[in-house]
Amino acid sequence: MVISELRRGLFEKLEKNGVADARFDADALIMHVLGLSRTDLALRFDQKVDADKINELEALALRRISGEPLQYIVGKWEFYGLPFYVGEGVLIPRADTEVLVDNALEFLANEPECTVVDLCSGSGCIAVSVAKNAKNAKVSAVELYEPAYSYLNRNVKLNNAAVKVIKADLFDTPDFDGIDLLLTNPPYIETDTINGLSQEVKREPKTALDGGDDGLDYYRAIAEKWLPITRKCVMAEIGETQAADVTALFEQKGFACVTVKDLSGNDRVIIGTKNRV
Ligand SMILES: C[S@@+](CC[C@H](N)C(=O)[O-])C[C@H]1O[C@@H](n2cnc3c(N)ncnc32)[C@H](O)[C@@H]1O
Repeated sequence: MVISELRRGLFEKLEKNGVADARFDADALIMHVLGLSRTDLALRFDQKVDADKINELEALALRRISGEPLQYIVGKWEFYGLPFYVGEGVLIPRADTEVLVDNALEFLANEPECTVVDLCSGSGCIAVSVAKNAKNAKVSAVELYEPAYSYLNRNVKLNNAAVKVIKADLFDTPDFDGIDLLLTNPPYIETDTINGLSQEVKREPKTALDGGDDGLDYYRAIAEKWLPITRKCVMAEIGETQAADVTALFEQKGFACVTVKDLSGNDRVIIGTKNRV
């Protein structure tokens, strides 16, 4: 069988079994198993495929059809143009989160050396992207849970990033003297909503999603424990209906807030600048 036939068969199988982006996923699985770039794939449609590779692809297609996210199957995903290992137990970096990184880099462009903390770091996508793109940032990444913590360490090494990795609980008293820029994408989904999420999202760790009854538990803790030691600015990713609540929590702690939208036009990031006294 040649690649073009394999590609058509795989696409039809995924589509027939309800995989939403079947063509994209079929190509991603083929590139992963055959070790091809997208350009290689386009140039090699007539290349013959070994039987063991076909069997491997069949097995991966079944995992995809069972609802396992494509990103976990291929094991690596791109964020801010950088590679990140992902798999069971770590949140898959989302393109929407790049808005937070854009704003962090814009802030850092006008600052001298700055201490930056990425709270709830997961794969480390925020911390690593900031450290790689702002040499004046002294970045620490805080994560509590295994295996996210282990992915975080692997991704810092993979990208050769200057990030200090810390295992700590956001709900405990922070072990930092002061932070210039606090970045965070905490769990923010209401507990009752989690059961209704797509099969793929439900394969991601509940500890990365569940923000408590009203989705705001983490923002309350950030306001109480972390904003008192934040000297200049906080940037927090939010759920699209949470802007007013999170703004109120941060403003009570002396931060003037603006809301930034993501590429789909939804409220996505709260930026709080510390009021001068
Ligand atoms: C929404 S995910 C964000 C991951 C990553 N920052 C991103 O944007 O893809 C939230 C992360 O917070 C971590 N987390 C949950 N509770 C925590 C806690 N109490 N202290 C520290 N990290 C926590 C989860 O393990 C998860 O990795």
